[in-house]
Amino acid sequence: MLKGKKIILGICGGIAAYKSVELLRLLTKSGADVHVIMTRAAREFVAPLTFQTLSMNPVHTDLFNLISEQEIGHISLADRADLFVVAPATANIIGKVAAGIADDMLTTTIMATKAPVLFAPAMNVNMYTNPLYQENEQKLRRLGYLFEAPVSGTLACGWEGEGKLASPEAIFESAISALTEKKLAGRTIMVTAGPTREEIDPVRYISNHSSGKMGYALACEARRRGARVLLISGPTALPAPGGVSVVNVTSAIEMQSEVMARAAECDVVIKAAAVADYRPLARSGTKIKKKGESSVIELVKNPDILAGLGSLETRPFLVGFAAETDALAENAAKKLKEKNLDMIVANDVTQADAGFNVDTNRARFFFRDGSGSESGLMSKNQLAGVILDHVAAHLESR
Ligand code: PMT
Repeated sequence: MLKGKKIILGICGGIAAYKSVELLRLLTKSGADVHVIMTRAAREFVAPLTFQTLSMNPVHTDLFNLISEQEIGHISLADRADLFVVAPATANIIGKVAAGIADDMLTTTIMATKAPVLFAPAMNVNMYTNPLYQENEQKLRRLGYLFEAPVSGTLACGWEGEGKLASPEAIFESAISALTEKKLAGRTIMVTAGPTREEIDPVRYISNHSSGKMGYALACEARRRGARVLLISGPTALPAPGGVSVVNVTSAIEMQSEVMARAAECDVVIKAAAVADYRPLARSGTKIKKKGESSVIELVKNPDILAGLGSLETRPFLVGFAAETDALAENAAKKLKEKNLDMIVANDVTQADAGFNVDTNRARFFFRDGSGSESGLMSKNQLAGVILDHVAAHLESR
């Protein structure tokens, strides 16, 4: 995801510095070339060797270093960066940058860079709420600096409140977002994800193997690209993605009502959810007792949510999915036409590395004008990007 990106990770002196080790691991794992700058105080908390080993690059600590200053270290580092992340960022560094002070390796490099700078503050709650700090943060925000806000919790100093460094995952997500072109800014995109559950009685239900991974990947990627994202999610084990409005539903009927209530505010709807086609005619209020050698549950058809969207007089750009086990192209083309879609993403769910409950997928795309294309095998995150590239291109040409 961050392949080819050069990221400077600035680390200030605070107990949360140990969490930057995990952040560094996330950044390098996703392909970024990370260069670490540590303040003198940061080195009191974690040894530079830890960051050097994990980043596989020398750690910068001194402004006047005999080796790196052969090429004016802070300037060349600042020039080459695609993104600057400062985590943890102390009240001191925020104050210095806001005041235009550049008196060490970290502050001079921040001052010299043209790359976006993302601060992840961590400090005592009283320092965080101090009007001096808040004024500095607001000033930097106005100037275009980015912030991943701290969270509430028990702080290292024993106080309770805001000031705890955001999780490495949240900072990582903000870093990706900062590096993503905002091609969907101003658009509202609804994504449905996961399975639906159709209850038989208080302890049993009919469902399918959808994990929600495909839909959640689409929601995250759409948000990174600047869209306002509504995620209508069936039951999944996935954490709610940051910056996305999540509505949790259980059954197809609930999903239908939440989707239709919001359709008018959307530019695009992407239906990655695996909606149960049928539900039990009647849900028993008590656990059905075991009796006899066989049992029959009468099912009735669920509403087709996507077809309902397709029949709206003014409808959003509609992207359906087709989960197929055979005759993929024929079935997908039929669904595209019958549900009046703009695009359908067909996946062969018999393959071990595609479809339900895996991290990868491969898809064939069919469009309203009869054209088509396909993706190779890729991660669901990458496939989400490819789908949204198609969506953005179609929106632009509309
Ligand atoms: O969640 P994962 O584990 O990551 O798996 C991803 C996935 C396999 C669920 C996903 O890639 C996928 O294929 N989703 C669509 C599953 C499906 O229900 O396909 P379908 O061919 O039965 O339905 C066609 C389309 O109509 C889908 O967009 C579906 O959301 C929609 N539909 C179906 C039935 C119904 N009653 N209402 C609907 O809106």
